[in-house]
Amino acid sequence: MGAGASPLANDRLLRALRRQPVDVTPVWIMRQAGRYLPEYRRVRAAAGDFMTLCRDPALACEVTLQPLKRFDLDAAILFSDILTVPDAMGFGLYFVEGEGPRFRVRPETPADLARLQAVRAAEQLDYVLEAVRLIRRELDGRLPLIGFSGSPWTLATYILEGGASRDFARAKRWLYQEPAALHHLLDLLAHSVADYLRAQIAAGVDAVQIFDTWGGVLAHDAYRTFSLAYMVRVVEALRAPDGALPVPVILFTKGGGVWLEEIAASGASAAGLDWTLSLGEARRRTGDRIALQGNLDPAVLRADPATIEREVARVLADYGPGPGHVFNLGHGVTPDVDPDRVALLVDKVHELSEAYHR
Ligand code: CP3
Repeated sequence: MGAGASPLANDRLLRALRRQPVDVTPVWIMRQAGRYLPEYRRVRAAAGDFMTLCRDPALACEVTLQPLKRFDLDAAILFSDILTVPDAMGFGLYFVEGEGPRFRVRPETPADLARLQAVRAAEQLDYVLEAVRLIRRELDGRLPLIGFSGSPWTLATYILEGGASRDFARAKRWLYQEPAALHHLLDLLAHSVADYLRAQIAAGVDAVQIFDTWGGVLAHDAYRTFSLAYMVRVVEALRAPDGALPVPVILFTKGGGVWLEEIAASGASAAGLDWTLSLGEARRRTGDRIALQGNLDPAVLRADPATIEREVARVLADYGPGPGHVFNLGHGVTPDVDPDRVALLVDKVHELSEAYHR
């Protein structure tokens, strides 16, 4: 358990992740704090830029709590970014308006990777850990707090590309041309991610999610070797001496449906699913070995209320009765979404899921 293992007033998320019975299906939303909220845009404008917001624990805490004031969500997620880890490794993260994340330094040769050192979270990411402690205190046992990290592979893509990419040309060139150097980087990142997640757990998060946003761009065998294997190492590194996980671990590979059986055998507590597969089918394929999280198409939130309600009902019916489901979108909420549509979604999940838990 995390820092103070006090009971939570709302423990639906943790129960669902452990596949224990719940009254209604818990719901949280990837990127629930973000640009679609006017109050987020105000704080971010006052901070000046995104990284200033991330580095200020009081502001990160304020922004984390914003969606909880509007919506009846079942969890908070730490406000930060997956790219704080490569930033702490010395790559120099910055954001270009409209173009996404960039790094000042990009490795070009295996020697550039050989020089790198793993992140020591307690020293280099202390601002994130301070935000976790602050959010914990503010939540005061009302709701669980989710911590997170990028997967080693997903972080490696940003490092090797020097930022966001469409085709992952550089990262894949390393994969096929310099696999040993890439394995060295992934090993370093797996140690960094494990250290970072352990530090978040010690600071008080109640569950963690590993975002493998770009695992789905890998060839079938390459996914196992270059992404899943390193996430498994992270999960193993989190285990207590008795083999138990200190908090539930959610593993989200976008586009990872084809590897679902292997993800279910990873040792993680839950698999996050995008909208391309049926939850019911996913449940049959995993035989209730793992909890499932997802998987409404985020584009549904641009539709009218009746359509949103129908699609929420469809996802709930697809999973069917019984525990083990955490409702979420299949990927993050987009900046153009009307917050009232998110409110409707959250309320409908609770209202319509009751029938599946009797
Ligand atoms: O989910 C949450 O509410 C927690 C906060 C969170 C953010 N990023 C805030 C953020 C989380 C969990 C992330 C993870 C993250 N960051 C991922 C993995 C999840 C995913 O969506 O696949 C990735 C790939 C990143 C990298 C990153 N950071 C991107 C691609 C961007 C968007 C750049 C852009 O201009 O569109 C960011 C910045 C970012 N991270 C924003 C937010 C709210 C927007 C920054 C802003 O205010 O301009």
